[in-house]
Amino acid sequence: MAGTRTLNSFFYRIFLHHQHKLKIYLSPRRFQHALACAQLAAELAENSGFSTNRAYVAGLLHDCARELPEKKAKRLLAHYKGKHCPSATRANPKLWHMPLGIVIAKKDFSIQDSMILRAIGVHSVGAARMTMLDTILYVADYSEPLRKHASAPRIRRLAKKNLFAALRQVTVDKCAYLKKKGLSQHPNSLALAKRLKIKV
Ligand SMILES: [Fe+2]
Ligand SMILES: [Fe+2]
Repeated sequence: MAGTRTLNSFFYRIFLHHQHKLKIYLSPRRFQHALACAQLAAELAENSGFSTNRAYVAGLLHDCARELPEKKAKRLLAHYKGKHCPSATRANPKLWHMPLGIVIAKKDFSIQDSMILRAIGVHSVGAARMTMLDTILYVADYSEPLRKHASAPRIRRLAKKNLFAALRQVTVDKCAYLKKKGLSQHPNSLALAKRLKIKV
């Protein structure tokens, strides 16, 4: 399995357990997306000398809250006090799964690693300051091989050569997409675009 050849057997057993459990939380299609994202994230981590174990777990669990029943999501969000939920995220139900992903990864998958939890918390909109794991997950989520949009293969190839060029290109694409659709930009995305000197 590309990108996961350096996963050691101890972690591999944990991953198998998480994968099995994750099937309860996601539709088959989104489960396949999570697996593809995890494999690409591990591959990008390996290329960058970053922990493949962390990258794989972040990729696997990043959408773990994406299909929570609405009632449960609302209840969890009402109690969420963490920092990864600015008002723009609370106002957009499609983004709730970022902060709620932190809650579910902690509570149901026993993830305590703050780097992994943070990467899950910003995986779709990014942040002004992206850690290496934030970057790996943001790029892998957007460009994993099951993604249907036209730029995915190009970004994937770019990411394997130059992860930061891929981060920039994903941000350019996301901003352009929202602009074309007449949708507002999330403050985190704007802050990231500004930091990367991208005109929005
Ligand atoms: Fe997501
Ligand atoms: Fe995703």
